[in-house]
Amino acid sequence: MIKLEVSVAGVKMCNPLVLAAGVRSNYADLLIRAAKEGAGAVTSKSCSLEPRPGHPNPTAMIHGQVVMNAIGLSNPGAKEEAEQLKKAVKEAGVPVIASVFGKNADEFAEASKIIEKAKPAMIELNISCPNVHREGRMFSADPAATEEIVRAVKKAVKLPVSAKLSPNVTDIAEIAVAAKRGGADAITAINTLSGMWIDAYAKKPYLANRQGGVSGPGIKPVALRCVWQIRQAVDLPIIGGGGITSGTDAAEMLMAGATAVSIGSAVCYRKNAFAEISKELAEFMESEGYAKVSDIKMD
Ligand SMILES: Cc1cc2nc3c(=O)[nH]c(=O)nc-3n(C[C@H](O)[C@H](O)[C@H](O)COP(=O)(O)O)c2cc1C
Repeated sequence: MIKLEVSVAGVKMCNPLVLAAGVRSNYADLLIRAAKEGAGAVTSKSCSLEPRPGHPNPTAMIHGQVVMNAIGLSNPGAKEEAEQLKKAVKEAGVPVIASVFGKNADEFAEASKIIEKAKPAMIELNISCPNVHREGRMFSADPAATEEIVRAVKKAVKLPVSAKLSPNVTDIAEIAVAAKRGGADAITAINTLSGMWIDAYAKKPYLANRQGGVSGPGIKPVALRCVWQIRQAVDLPIIGGGGITSGTDAAEMLMAGATAVSIGSAVCYRKNAFAEISKELAEFMESEGYAKVSDIKMD
């Protein structure tokens, strides 16, 4: 009998597949839909204390193995987001992870306090979005800033907190250690890689923002390497993802050291992604003699 259940920082999931932040927007109905499609947990799009309009169009593109976006963290602000999350928490039937970001530690803490009222299962701190560079630092490039933000949020809320890390750093393990020092209960990795795509005939970048975040199947090797390095450095549970589109991809991510596996861009490539990927993971476990998810290890 194959057991797909996992637990991340005390949050129990019926399978290890977690909808990654942002891919299904801020709307409760889309989070609920991912849950009904078979996600073990769902993450909301990152929200800030105040509403943000985001970047002008075009904000996303898909080309072969790569998805790029520069949505600019558009969101309705923490108060409105909390209303959406209340509905998602009530109706999704799986844990809801709420993603939060801010311009400084106080804003992260303030937004998290408002979001906590919706009773999500966990807060995920988006300290890694590459699109906010111009308005401030990417916090997860700096161990001291990472530690400060995690500590501020842990002081502000009672929920478990996961720090979402960026691959766009020299030493991701050092940042994971800093997040742990700040009191993080889990690590989420990875956010998108910083990138650019140019239309040679139009002689212009595809995205209005010129730069964007790269996701999709092409980034899987980077994600596996990052999760493996984090696993060597800290003993916290890891929600690992980046380019995961199949059951064997998910198994690879678990072998790299992830506790659960996030699924983002795969929803652009596969119909019924969650149900299909969890079915394939169960088949892989059956064929390789694994009874439970935590048994999946590299030699
Ligand atoms: C359209 C889109 C929007 C995203 N929005 C967010 C976001 O709001 N917050 C965040 O932390 N990550 C966001 N991400 C990053 C994903 O959560 C994920 O970390 C990344 O896409 C890598 O995983 P994937 O290759 O499975 O998509 C977004 C990704 C995409 C494609």
